[in-house]
Amino acid sequence: MTGAGKPGRARHDLGNLRHAQVCRPTSIHLLRRLVEAVPVADRAGMLTGTFLDLGCGKGGTLHAARQIGFARAVGVEFVDAFADIAEANLRRLGVTGAEVVRGDAAACDPPAGLRFLFMFNPFGEAVMRPAMRRIAGVPARPLYIGHVYPEVEHVLAEELPVMEVVHDLPAWSARLFRVP
Ligand SMILES: C[S@@+](CC[C@H](N)C(=O)[O-])C[C@H]1O[C@@H](n2cnc3c(N)ncnc32)[C@H](O)[C@@H]1O
Repeated sequence: MTGAGKPGRARHDLGNLRHAQVCRPTSIHLLRRLVEAVPVADRAGMLTGTFLDLGCGKGGTLHAARQIGFARAVGVEFVDAFADIAEANLRRLGVTGAEVVRGDAAACDPPAGLRFLFMFNPFGEAVMRPAMRRIAGVPARPLYIGHVYPEVEHVLAEELPVMEVVHDLPAWSARLFRVP
């Protein structure tokens, strides 16, 4: 994955902080519900690929994604304090096959093998649009997108016009999309 800063204590341009949303962690139950809503015909193949959380915060979804069965989990986070905690959590829990990329989601190329993108309303349109342009260039299909509190969902629809809604979880304000 490119576009991120140096590993370790890298400092990032935090200009996009003004577009960031308040950080709240996702429940593993919700993530499971989204993955279980993926049609059975696609699910096994999807799990052999990479799970990506844009704006991974303290890394809870990366742990959850590996527990659910994804071969690899990648989180992008531009606040070093959160990335530090995420890495410490993964180490403490002995999670392998998961990594945190420090950088701005607007400038990070998607990881190899991406099959499931997760976003918990991490940022506004100014970041979402360039991020989704990069996602649109991912060759592997189908690509699934789990989006919680989709405040700027119109940006996804504009950048990924072939995307279709697979499942709605109104109680969680969450949706699952499929990019065929
Ligand atoms: C609502 S929290 C979600 C945490 C995690 N995804 C979860 O579901 O538990 C959003 C996270 O996105 C991060 N974030 C916001 N804008 C970002 C950007 N432009 N690049 C990378 N991370 C960003 C914030 O620092 C925060 O940690």
